Amino acid sequence: VRNGIEFAIADPGAATAGRHQIRLAEHEMPGLMALRREYAEVFPLRGARVSGSLHMTVQTAVLIETLVALGAEVRWASCNIFSTDDSAAAAVVVGPHGTPDEPRGVPVFAWKGETLEEYWWCTERMLTWPGEAGPNMILDDGGDATLLVHKGVQYERAGVVPNPADDDPDEFKVILQTLRASLAADTTKWTRAAERIRGVTEETTTGVNRLYQLAAQGELLFPAINVNDSVTKSKFDNKYGIRHSLIDGINRATDVLVGGKVAVVCGYGDVGKGSAESLRGQRARVIITEVDPINALQALLDGYEVARLDSVIGQADIVITATGNKDIVTVDHMRRMKHQAVLGNVGHFDNEIDMAGLERADGVRRINIKPQVDEWAFRDGRSIIVLSEGRLLNLGNATGHPSFVMSNSFSNQTIAQIELFTKYREYDREVYRLPKALDEKIARIHVEALGGELTRLTKDQAEYIGVDVEGPYKPDHYRY
Ligand code: NAI
Repeated sequence: VRNGIEFAIADPGAATAGRHQIRLAEHEMPGLMALRREYAEVFPLRGARVSGSLHMTVQTAVLIETLVALGAEVRWASCNIFSTDDSAAAAVVVGPHGTPDEPRGVPVFAWKGETLEEYWWCTERMLTWPGEAGPNMILDDGGDATLLVHKGVQYERAGVVPNPADDDPDEFKVILQTLRASLAADTTKWTRAAERIRGVTEETTTGVNRLYQLAAQGELLFPAINVNDSVTKSKFDNKYGIRHSLIDGINRATDVLVGGKVAVVCGYGDVGKGSAESLRGQRARVIITEVDPINALQALLDGYEVARLDSVIGQADIVITATGNKDIVTVDHMRRMKHQAVLGNVGHFDNEIDMAGLERADGVRRINIKPQVDEWAFRDGRSIIVLSEGRLLNLGNATGHPSFVMSNSFSNQTIAQIELFTKYREYDREVYRLPKALDEKIARIHVEALGGELTRLTKDQAEYIGVDVEGPYKPDHYRY
């Protein structure tokens, strides 16, 4: 705690560097800046206490300061152990008008290179407000903050102390240990928090999947807005964002020439499509793996080969997972990879690649090359290069998606926060999406920022295709 602000970051002294980056990013985030102007005198988030769990990057700093400009109080943690930009975290804590000795910003609990224990400690701190306050909004990416609240309520209701079983996955053991400590101090903390929380806005595919599962089981404790499936989020951030940041991560990590190499991308959803394009842009020969025939057919017609990982693993120079599913690359696959082939993941969680199995595997040695780059050597003398320990490599080895694309995603986040905070009584404990008119509004701002010239429908044309001159221009079932 310094100057009344609680925080746990690497170095408050890095704030000036972070502030420069934030200033440049603001120019590249016209959506967020337009929302700041639009609500400059309204403060729609006044009274909101937002607990946020989302990669603590420069772009997220602009989001946080937008929420604050709209009246919210905010506490923040990262949603990944490697994704924090320490200078951005410092700038957010110090704030635009503070100094490292006298910070005036926002409590942040995040640094690059947390252990799993530290990660869940940060998440717990971010959800724990001073006094009786507690959050009344959650902003989540991947669902870990939502998960902690739901697990906490579950154990409080059952009146039992969470006890990890031997065969629980390591991460789950850490979650339960975190909850044990919090429940020992306060036995109704999470129930009280859940009652106050008006809703959660969720950023990514994997977190949204978790929310729909909770809602289907009737276990969702508060309303949720699925930000991911705003068109201006998943069809832009997931696709064009990764097109930029995947290759950025690979290049910063390895210096291998990508052109001419064989790259396998597992999954051809939005992230897979952007990943494939990113690698093809460098003239790699790209092969796709898919389970869904529709996505597989898209890949073929986009000019990629489609094959099973088992058939092509021995020829791949680069393997990237982007499925949001688990157990995609097994230890057996890794043993069959070429010497010094590069393996990395851009799906939300690290279980796409069997890292736990690799650590346990016989005769395997880990040689750390540099932060977030490891060579794993097998007994036969061959080795593979694994990026960011199998966690999101575009954030672990680089700085994630660029500002302009995140301006779209975070404009959706901000609008979703305002919507749930101000109109929570109109929502049930279900998962909702934002109306298309808002998607078009966000897109319009970014079209203008890029100097694009929109064609205007005549009244006659609008009537002919059955839409309003001002939009929405498409029915909800349209897929883009
Ligand atoms: P999506 O649902 O559009 O695509 C996933 C694809 O993987 C689907 O087409 C599915 O059929 C396929 N798939 C599932 N199991 C498979 C298997 N065993 N083998 C091959 N293909 C399989 O999801 P989206 O939006 O592309 O997201 C993918 C992951 O990336 C999610 O975990 C999401 O949260 C994460 N994400 C990561 C970002 C980053 O910055 N790295 C940005 C946005 C999302």
